[in-house]
Amino acid sequence: MNGQKLILGQTLAFHADPFAEEPAAAARHERRGAVLVAGGRIAAVGPAEALRAAHPAAEVEDLGAALISPGFVDAHVHYAQTAIIASWGKRLIDWLNLYTFPEELRFADPAHAAAIAARYFDLTLAHGTTSVVSYGTVHPESVEAFFAEAARRNLRAFAGKTCMDRNAPEGLTDTPQSAYDDSKRLLDRWHGVGRLSYVVTPRFAPTSSREQLAALGALWAERPGTLMQTHLSEQTDEVAWVAALFPEARDYLDTYEAAGLLGPGALFGHAIHLTERERARLRETGAGLVHCPTSNTFIGSGLFDLPGLAAAGQRIGLATDTGGGSSFSMLRTMAAAYEIAQLRGTALHPAQLWWLATAGNARLLGMADRIGTLAPGIEADLIAVDLASTPAIAQRAARAGDIWEALFPTIMMGDDRAIAAVWIAGERLPRPAG
Ligand code: GUN
Ligand code: ZN
Repeated sequence: MNGQKLILGQTLAFHADPFAEEPAAAARHERRGAVLVAGGRIAAVGPAEALRAAHPAAEVEDLGAALISPGFVDAHVHYAQTAIIASWGKRLIDWLNLYTFPEELRFADPAHAAAIAARYFDLTLAHGTTSVVSYGTVHPESVEAFFAEAARRNLRAFAGKTCMDRNAPEGLTDTPQSAYDDSKRLLDRWHGVGRLSYVVTPRFAPTSSREQLAALGALWAERPGTLMQTHLSEQTDEVAWVAALFPEARDYLDTYEAAGLLGPGALFGHAIHLTERERARLRETGAGLVHCPTSNTFIGSGLFDLPGLAAAGQRIGLATDTGGGSSFSMLRTMAAAYEIAQLRGTALHPAQLWWLATAGNARLLGMADRIGTLAPGIEADLIAVDLASTPAIAQRAARAGDIWEALFPTIMMGDDRAIAAVWIAGERLPRPAG
């Protein structure tokens, strides 16, 4: 058949959740494997020789020993913070006031928003991330710029206008009504257009009044199937501030719950300092907890209990939290998740880390049937990962006895140099200039 493409390399296809099963048995590894792509989707995955014989007319792209994987999915980012990543010396509230809010003010200018959106996607794609879930700024223009750029690149992407009506500088606030109206207009304009999804986005309880949270809860209820994202219990000072701002609330989560902002499509960034009641409610409602490990160490927030929360059956995702996070790389993010779990006494298996960054995040977003795995019918957003991308990694990988040992040095020490190729809906991207 015309237009078929056969990508050859090592393949790793997850068919189970490595937190629920023996991790190494959750994926099938093919040392000489192939992914057949047709019409922007994966048509078949299997041994290279068998697929070559079955599809002799397919165009062949041979990536040698590189690992063909689904592109990474980043479940929590602030694309508008690209230019202030790695800003020194502050904890959450001061970091927001000193670095983040001044930069976000600049997104009133559509030209700035467009330039940063383009820069952001250049960076994420170079790092092998093919789908992101982003906050915009308070300005609807910031979401327009994000979606326009994602559409231009045919990416599966998620974003929402960040809503704030208090405790933020003039120029970065909206109102309950304008937050509702602007969010609804953006949702109706972009949600489901091509590969784009709108996400209802109150920034966090300290910067939203009860009325604003309730207005966004109402909008979320009017649009079943959409996601909602916000921040929860990132730092202890923030938790205390929420308790002072919402004396009637049982806890931080209750500020969202009271507004109708809790449910299976809710994504809570950080979720570090949780009470027993919060853990129980998050689990009962099937909400998602998004682990942002490089951010949690960089801003000094704390050690997310990934092992304990996963064992308790919570739904968990993994994210860079750019630019509170200190990297655009999901490899670096997996490494930080590994290190934080070690500090809590548990060694995460490479299968668990890789799954979180691909199939796990896709499932968290309700997109398991579209992205995140190597399986027929899944959209062909793929990466080729060089498992020997630096001399240090190469010499360690040369000693590996199996795929997990071969992968782990790249997880711990890899960066954008490990990303040898990227395909979006089956189309290979050109190497970035320079
Ligand atoms: N809490 C509220 N806003 C933010 C943000 O932009 N970054 C992080 N890390 N935490 C937040
Ligand atoms: Zn965040």
